[in-house]
Amino acid sequence: MSLKGRSFIDLSDFERYELRQFLDAGADLKRKQKRGEPHELLKGKSLAMIFMKSSTRTRVSFEVGMTQLGGHALYLEPGGSQLGRGETIGDTAQVLSRYCDVIMARVFAHSDVTDLAKYATVPVINGLSDLLHPCQIMADMLTIEEHRGSLEGQKIVYVGDSNNVSNSIMQGCTIMGMDVTIGSPKGYTPSEVILKKATHLSKKYGTTLEVVNNPDEAVKGADVIYTDTFFSMGQERSKEKEAALMPFQVNKVLVGKAKKDVIVMHCLPAHRDEELTSEVMDGPHSVVFDQAENRLHAQKGIMALIV
Ligand code: CP
Ligand code: NVA
Repeated sequence: MSLKGRSFIDLSDFERYELRQFLDAGADLKRKQKRGEPHELLKGKSLAMIFMKSSTRTRVSFEVGMTQLGGHALYLEPGGSQLGRGETIGDTAQVLSRYCDVIMARVFAHSDVTDLAKYATVPVINGLSDLLHPCQIMADMLTIEEHRGSLEGQKIVYVGDSNNVSNSIMQGCTIMGMDVTIGSPKGYTPSEVILKKATHLSKKYGTTLEVVNNPDEAVKGADVIYTDTFFSMGQERSKEKEAALMPFQVNKVLVGKAKKDVIVMHCLPAHRDEELTSEVMDGPHSVVFDQAENRLHAQKGIMALIV
C-alpha cells in the first residue's frame, strides 16, 4: 500500500517494508542535510502541531524539519486553541484539514489522536500519547542502525517503567527483526493488550519477546539498553513506584552486565541519577543525543512520504 496519505499513529499499522521505507527516507534526508543539498520536498505545505502536553524535542524537531523541507509549521500550545474550551476533536480535525496538509498531535488519551485521524482528511502523526510514542522509536531505530550496522538480530533491552516508549519499542523493534526484552518490576510491566499484540508481531517476524522482573537477567547479552523516566507526563510521583523502579536504574554496574559494546539509549528528557546515572548518560556507551538529533531526520522521512 502507498504511504502517501496514511496517518502515522501506531507502528503496528505498518509492515516491515513500510517502516524500512520511512527509515531509508530519513537516512537519505539526513545525508542531504549534512551535505547541504536542498531537499524542499514539501514546499508550500503546512503542518499543524497540537500539543496537549509539554515538549522540547518533538516541537522543535517537527518545526525545524518542516522548515528544512520547504514547508511551514504552526504551533498550537497546550490550552491555546479552542480544544481547551470544549471544541470537539472531530470539529478541530475537520477545520485544520481545510488549512493544513498534515497534523501532528501530542495527547493524553490515545483515542484523541485516533479520533483526529478519523475526522481529518489529511494525515495525522502521533507525537506521543499515553499509549504510544512511534516517532521516537523511528528515530531510535535510525540511531541503532547507525551505531550497530543493522537492526535484525540485535537484542534491545528496555529497563524501567513500562510506558508509551516501551510499548512502541515492543512494536517497532519487533517488526524490524530485533529481539526485545522488557525488564520491569511487578506492577509496572506492559499491559496484557499491548503484550498480546506485540507477541503476535514477534511470531509473525520470527523474533523473541520476553518480559522479566530482574534487571540483571534482562540485560544479559544486550546490544542496546534503553530506559525512560519513572513518571511519565500526567502521572503523579509516588514513593512506592520510585522504590520499585530504583533497582532498575541504568548505572555502570548494570551496563557492565550487557555486551561490552552495548549502546545506552534514553528518549529524553532524562531525570539524571534517577532512571539513568549521569556517569552512564555522559559516558562512552551513551547515544542519547544522537537519538535526539535523529528525531529531526526520521520525522522528515515520515512527513516526506505521507504528505
Ligand atoms: N523525547 C521526546 O519526545 O521529547 P520531548 O518531550 O521534549 O518532545
Ligand atoms: N514516557 C515519557 C516520554 C517523554 C518523551 C512521557 O510520556 O512523559
